[in-house]
Amino acid sequence: MEAALYGPGGYYAERPSLGGAGADYFTAPELHPAFGALLGRQVAQVWEALGRPSRFDVVEHGPGSGALCRDLRLWAAHDAPDFAAAARYTLVERSTPLQETQRATLAGAGLLDGRVGWEAPAPGGKGRYLGVILANELLDALPVHLVAVREGRLLERYVAPDETGPGLTFVEAAPSTRALAAYFEALGLLPGEGCRAEVNLGAVAWAEQAAASLERGALLTLDYGYPAPELYAPHRRHGTLLTYRGHALGSDPLVRIGEQDITSHVDFTSIARAGERGGLETLGLVDQATFLHNLGLRQYLRLLEQAGQPAQDYDANRRALLELASRDGLGAIKVLIQTRGLPGFQPTGLGPSKGPPYPPKIGEVGGAPPRAGQANSTGDPWLPLLHPGQMRLPGPLEAEGFADLESQWHDFWTGEEEE
Ligand SMILES: C[S@@+](CC[C@H](N)C(=O)[O-])C[C@H]1O[C@@H](n2cnc3c(N)ncnc32)[C@H](O)[C@@H]1O
Repeated sequence: MEAALYGPGGYYAERPSLGGAGADYFTAPELHPAFGALLGRQVAQVWEALGRPSRFDVVEHGPGSGALCRDLRLWAAHDAPDFAAAARYTLVERSTPLQETQRATLAGAGLLDGRVGWEAPAPGGKGRYLGVILANELLDALPVHLVAVREGRLLERYVAPDETGPGLTFVEAAPSTRALAAYFEALGLLPGEGCRAEVNLGAVAWAEQAAASLERGALLTLDYGYPAPELYAPHRRHGTLLTYRGHALGSDPLVRIGEQDITSHVDFTSIARAGERGGLETLGLVDQATFLHNLGLRQYLRLLEQAGQPAQDYDANRRALLELASRDGLGAIKVLIQTRGLPGFQPTGLGPSKGPPYPPKIGEVGGAPPRAGQANSTGDPWLPLLHPGQMRLPGPLEAEGFADLESQWHDFWTGEEEE
């Protein structure tokens, strides 16, 4: 998997297709700039809590196309200029072609300046950063060990030549490393009998290093995943390994090697514990829908209604904003918030509880007023809108599933859906 994703000819070693019509999959930063803006509000709250230091690090690991960095910085320039002046961005990227893409993205927005720099993933020094470390869909892209439980024994699934024909197949044998058994011993569980599962030792090592590199501030880890008892529950018989190519989902990593992305869900119990071993305090694990709502997604929907956009642009923006929090899609991503040196800090993204009915009906202009520090001098926050050329999902006129998305959201926020 390491070779298929990051080795010569591997998916991320060549130019992976992120965002845009021909992309293999889309992520929240690719979908709408409101994601970067809302995350920016959370990051700036950490800066405030640290006493507004004159230099504040925003370190993003696995930045993909650079869209999140661009949109967070654009938001800051409009709505939080003091924060923007203090923030120094470091992009930690393993893929050389993606580093080039990130430079092009930032250059296109006039943001390729002295406030941003790049680093290769490295063991990293201790306590280097006063600020926020971010990773959006990094951990689900790391190579994993595949395991299976047979007659109560933990086995590893290896890739081997297929003796019955051309190509590759999986064979099961004793684990390659004692670390796999130790992983489940630490959790006090084992996947169910006959189940396949993934173990992401690299993600745990990453979380330990990321925690160690933080002097004071927050680590925000966003990814598809569950707490361990849910991820390794007996009903999950085939594990969570998936492949993506041209937005098509697959489950066979042994085909189209190097041409498709391979992902697996994250065990947030082990990731949280790794950060805690590094001295971080875990403040919460919340789904992205709730997180973005708490930070003001609804406010952007309200502003969009008032923005007088042409119908097609309005549709495309509204669809993307709703999709960011879609319960069956990006909204199900989990956000883990951990801090160091911030006693009593209450991240806006974690609370309060459920908001009012959501999304607002067309024409409704109510909604919560902007929070302090979230509005510019005109009183209203700046409204991030889709960039020219940014991927657009079909709007409600073309999208069969749109009515469902709208009603799903209403149900979600009013708590009326049936379990
Ligand atoms: C699934 S993409 C997510 C991109 C982006 N965060 C987004 O949400 O659109 C995974 C990213 O992590 C990068 N990556 C993989 N392993 C890495 C590592 N060890 N350190 C830093 N970046 C890494 C990939 O090259 C890619 O940019």
